Formats: sequence, structure tokens, C-alpha cells
Amino acid sequence: MTTLTEHPACPGTDATVADLAPLLPVVGHETLAPLVDGRRVPYANLDVAASAPALQAVADRITRTLPLYASVHRGAGYLSQVSTSLYEAARRTIGAFVGAREDDATLIVRNTTDALNLLAGCLPTSDDGAPGRVLVLDVEHHANFLPWQRGADATVLTGRATAAETVVALRDELTAGATSGRPYALLALTGASNVTGEVLPVADIVAAAHAVGTRVLLDGAQLVPHRRFSLAGTGVDYLAFSGHKTYAPFGAGVLVGRRDWLDAGTPYLAGGGAVRSVRVDGTEWHDGPARHEAGSPNVLGAVALAAACEALADVDGETLREHENVLRGRLVAGLETIDGVEIVRLWPDAADAVGVVTFTVDGYEPGHVAAYLSAEHGVGVRDGRFCAHPLLSRLGYGAGAVRSSVGVGTAGEEVERLVAAVRTLVTEGPRARYDVVDGLWIVVDDPRPVPEGSGLEGLLATAGPGRDEAFGCLPEDA
Ligand SMILES: Cc1ncc(COP(=O)(O)O)c(C=O)c1O
Repeated sequence: MTTLTEHPACPGTDATVADLAPLLPVVGHETLAPLVDGRRVPYANLDVAASAPALQAVADRITRTLPLYASVHRGAGYLSQVSTSLYEAARRTIGAFVGAREDDATLIVRNTTDALNLLAGCLPTSDDGAPGRVLVLDVEHHANFLPWQRGADATVLTGRATAAETVVALRDELTAGATSGRPYALLALTGASNVTGEVLPVADIVAAAHAVGTRVLLDGAQLVPHRRFSLAGTGVDYLAFSGHKTYAPFGAGVLVGRRDWLDAGTPYLAGGGAVRSVRVDGTEWHDGPARHEAGSPNVLGAVALAAACEALADVDGETLREHENVLRGRLVAGLETIDGVEIVRLWPDAADAVGVVTFTVDGYEPGHVAAYLSAEHGVGVRDGRFCAHPLLSRLGYGAGAVRSSVGVGTAGEEVERLVAAVRTLVTEGPRARYDVVDGLWIVVDDPRPVPEGSGLEGLLATAGPGRDEAFGCLPEDA
């Protein structure tokens, strides 16, 4: 295989990228997927925007950490002290990876959704005691939408046809808020769209927000795993992201940002570890990360995410970007040449886009396309509305679409396989028979066995009647 730097393909050309190697080794890359015709092919995981496979470096770190694993912040024993040190070191590594400022707090939580709900609970009220005002775009993932509809006074701004117009609309709305006497406390913005991968110019938006005293939260779930990002460098006030999308699928997520709101906010989880003292008639809460990390900390999740951050930091940022750009460019160029395939776009002038390409195929429901890609080509993608219902409706894709996504572990061959498979679908149709059962597209009389040789056969067998669901596609409302 050639390496990226030797590779001749450029985004937008139709040159094949079949020989492009993954940038970093990931666990499971050699997994064979059974097809309905009885063959087995290496599984092409083009659904990394949903959950990315673990980096080999992450799996290795977990293996080395497990013998040292014990309670964190709770034990005088030797391994408890070692585990506490590992946990706190992981916190520092993760914060440094995203350019946290010296006085920022780095909170280890479960995932992006958890982080955003936590921050929503810390949003200060307005001067008149009313819930704080938050501005969001209608392009957001539900995780950066629903928490603000709860406790905050949220305004949803419709994204415009271009990135440039969207920035102007955001600036105008922020200014209008300030001049109305009820300024926005927070602008909650996606770092990269989970539907199109497109990115808004964050620095410009932060400047506009800060000019009127509004803080900026970036939902970094799709950005942090794919681009270098720095809180200090951009001025973003809060950042949320997920370990399982950052090649560390061990149940940790992160909220990093300014301490004052977090220290003043009501602890998100009430329980052990979050308190200095508890009396029958009152409680004194900790400040800092401990305030919002009640319960036994997820030391393995934190250590895994720190290992992923280290491995990603070791890759040159431009190399990271270019690897994805080549793969993304090939997906777009290849899919665009197929009759009846339409690529979902949000901002045609977006200056950058991470490795997410979403499309529809004329005459086929998204769930049917996804089931076909899996059953006949061993390609895993996502279908549905991607937890972004308002956006999909506005863009005219209320029935959903198919999303392919790539990352550091993706090889060019996988992308080529997807393009070829969609072309075959359009020109020849599917070979297997498909049906919709309980809203899921499935293969009729699916002959594919559960994975063999993993030692997990017994567990998988207990799925019983749910087995079909395990191999079916996500319901459209996912
Ligand atoms: C942009 C974006 N924000 C938030 C989330 C929610 O992430 P999690 O499920 O890890 O909480 C996702 C997940 O797909 C996402 O893509």
C-alpha cells in the first residue's frame, strides 16, 4: 500500500484511492463480515461518526492498565493510589489535547450528551432571574438541541444557504439580543455537522459572540476526533466531545471550559465524591471537576481517551486532515457520478468538512440501501435522520438518508467498495430479497451466521428473537 504522502489522489478527482492505507491501526480492522452469498469479506466500517473503533494504542493501554485498576479517589491501598494518579493524569492529557486554558476545568463524563446536559444545568439565569438565553442553529444534533429546550430560554436560528450567510445571521441575532437588553448567555454550536461533516468558521463566530458578551459552547463530537482543536487558540469557552467517537470506546466523554459557571452550578449528579461534607441539615459541595463527577469515576474510560488523545497528537494535524480529505473527496466524486444519487449538502462554501458524506439513492429507502450494503458488500453505514430531525426536514430529507463516515482507521479500499456497491445497486439492483419488519429493513431468510471464533457465540445466541434486530438497520427515527 502507498502512504498518504505518496498518494496521487486529490479531493474532487475520480482517481482511485484503493491503495490508501489507514493512518493508524484500529482494533477489528481484519474482522470478516459474512455476506448473504456465503462469502466473507473484511468488514468496511464506514460508520465511525456514530462510534469509532478503538485505536490499537488504546487497546494496548487498557491491557496495561487493567492489572493496576482499583477504586479512584476512594482508597488508601497502593493500587487505588496508582489508579487515582492515572485518572488525574488522563484528565490533564485530555485537557491539553484540546488546548484547555490553565484555569479551565476538564470534567470526565459519559459522552457528549452527558456533557451538554451538565452544562445546561449550570447555565446562569438572566439578570431578571429568568432562565438564561441560549442561541442554537437548527442544524444541531439533538444532544445540542434538547438540553437547551429544557432549562434555558432557547432561540433556534434557521441555518442559511451558505456558511457566510449563516455567520452573518448569527452575528445579527447575537447583536439583536444584546441591544434588546436580554443578551444571549451562550451560543451552542456544532463544531462539524454530523450530517454533512461541514464546518463553520469558529474563530469568526467566537469573535462575534464575545463582542456582545456571549459565551460559545462547541459540540466537538464530530470535530475533535478529526481535526486539531484548541480552546485557547479559538477562544471557545466550552467544548464537549465523546471518547467513543475519538477511537476510545470505553464510556468516557468530556466537558472542558470556564470554571465559574461550573463551580456555581448545581451539581449534575448528587452523590459520593462530589461533596466536602454532608450533614443531615445541609451539604457542602466541592468546586472543580469533583463537583460534577459524583460516583465512582470511569478510570478505564479516562485512561483510554487519554491514550487516544496521545496517539492522535502524535499524527501531524495536516496529515490527519489530508487522509480524511482524500477519502471524503473520493466518496463525493464517486457517488456524484452515479445516476439518482444525491449528496446532502448544507453549506457549499464551507471551508472545511470532516469525513462524513450523506446521500440518498433514487428509488431506494435509506434503510434498504444500508441493509444491502451490509448484506451484499460487508459495508457498515448509518441510515435514518441522524438525531438531527429539524435539519433533515428543512433540507427535504424527512424520510432520512444514508451516512458514510471515515476516520484514521479507514482504508481507501473501503471507500471504493462503497462507491462500487452503490453503483451496482443502481445499475443491477440488489440480489437478495429485503423486507421491512417492525420498521427495520432486513434480509428475508438471512443466512448470515453470528460471528464465529470470537468466544462470544453463547452471548450472541441469548439475543434470541432480537437477533434480527441486531443485524437489521436502525429505525428511521434514530
Ligand atoms: C455532533 C454530535 N453531537 C452530539 C452527539 C452525541 O454524542 P454521544 O452519543 O456520544 O453523546 C453526536 C453523536 O452522534 C454527534 O454527532
